[in-house]
Amino acid sequence: MRVVKIGAIVAAIVVAGLAAAAVAVYSSADTSTVGKLGFEHELAIPPLLEARTDGDGRKVFDLALQEGNVELIPGKQTRTWGANGPHLAPTLRASRGDRVMPRVRNRLGEATTTIHWHGMHLPAVADGGPHQPIRPGETWTPEWTVDQPAATLWYHPHPHPDTEDQVYRGLVGMFILDDPEADALALPDDYGVDDIPLLIQDKKFEDDGSLDFSKGLVSPTGLLGDEILLNGTHDPHLSVRHERVRLRLVNASGARVYNIGFADERPFELVATDGGLLPAPHKTRRIQLSPGERAEIVARFEPGEEVVLRSFEPDLGTNFFDGRFSGADDTFDLLEVRAARRLAAAPAVPRRLAAPEPAPPGPRGRVRRFELSGQGSINAQSLDMERIDEVVRAGTTETWEATNVSGQPHVFHPHDVRFRVLEYGGERPPPHLRGPKDTVYLRPHETVRLAIRFGDLTDPEHPYMFHCHVLQHEDRGMMGQFTVVE
Ligand code: C2O
Ligand code: CU
Ligand code: CU
Repeated sequence: MRVVKIGAIVAAIVVAGLAAAAVAVYSSADTSTVGKLGFEHELAIPPLLEARTDGDGRKVFDLALQEGNVELIPGKQTRTWGANGPHLAPTLRASRGDRVMPRVRNRLGEATTTIHWHGMHLPAVADGGPHQPIRPGETWTPEWTVDQPAATLWYHPHPHPDTEDQVYRGLVGMFILDDPEADALALPDDYGVDDIPLLIQDKKFEDDGSLDFSKGLVSPTGLLGDEILLNGTHDPHLSVRHERVRLRLVNASGARVYNIGFADERPFELVATDGGLLPAPHKTRRIQLSPGERAEIVARFEPGEEVVLRSFEPDLGTNFFDGRFSGADDTFDLLEVRAARRLAAAPAVPRRLAAPEPAPPGPRGRVRRFELSGQGSINAQSLDMERIDEVVRAGTTETWEATNVSGQPHVFHPHDVRFRVLEYGGERPPPHLRGPKDTVYLRPHETVRLAIRFGDLTDPEHPYMFHCHVLQHEDRGMMGQFTVVE
């Protein structure tokens, strides 16, 4: 009797202990920096990399990939990766019609990497996915002609299965594309002055300042940092001298979704998404960005004011458990904008931005379906670099349907193309998903339908990738390959 009783009591204590531990894990998984920052450091602006023009008229961008130390947290050194510097990579810029040739030298020491031009329409051999490794000491010189509208693209490593790790180390940069129509618009366009790049990455630090690579006990999406760096700056502020400022937001994080707005709830104008300008600006108070997504917003400031750019709780569509461990309850102060006492006047955002891309002509190509499940597969298969999953005919328009058949967040991204969202969760897409896109968040148990126009760069041998841009999922094989053929 007695023994049984003690057994029951011990069991009860163990259960209570486990429950308490679970509650502790659950509640400590909620992260917030709101109201806790001093905005001590001036926001760094990634330098614009001057291209040199070679004898064949190509714009050559010299990038040396390297490891280094940088003071991210005051008084501490962090080992990071960068291009042409210890952390992050310079901004590249080119115009429609330019022939570009990055010269990418791997000086990382031991590591093999790749550099992928996210959002760029280019030949598959120039894409920089896992099929174009750059081994230690090697130089990779892809080339292509820019043939797409003005947009904020970005570049990052893509070696399989090390993308999450290498992106986290900070080897990411922006690639801004211009075109004459966009140049003619009265939008803020003075780089680093009233046109501000913002590469957003979350980090976790060990006490000694080194990067913490641990994933946490329960983690449906991978590493979630509790410190948000903008352009590598911790606790940043930005001083502005113009009444209107464009912010180019790039979510360069591995798993975290940001829901960005201003602390005082002022509206701003969304002018561009991943693939370029919207037909007309969309006035809103929030823009949610999942890993890989970009947005350009124009915000207005009053002389002498200070206002905080914040990431509010993202709407992930997950249940409360998966949500908590995917960052759905997390909030962050990102940046304090400090407006000068006198601000240069700026014209209102034009009511018309880009001519809407013409409805794709001709017959609709195939409908293809992609089911993203668990953490490592699409259509029940994980990546096989030797297997071509889809073969697409050049110049056709297809409908790709991506369904999240799990309870976890996923993010669908095909290389080489821009797409239009036809339907999001069975409905007309919300305004911020009506512009040109190349990356889209998939809510659990929902389908997005995308119209994708494939270009005319064909190569039956070399594939492009499509994958989940939650980088841990990608690294686990939630990735497939397609070729574009005649
Ligand atoms: Cu940011 Cu495969 O891409
Ligand atoms: Cu990409
Ligand atoms: Cu995923």
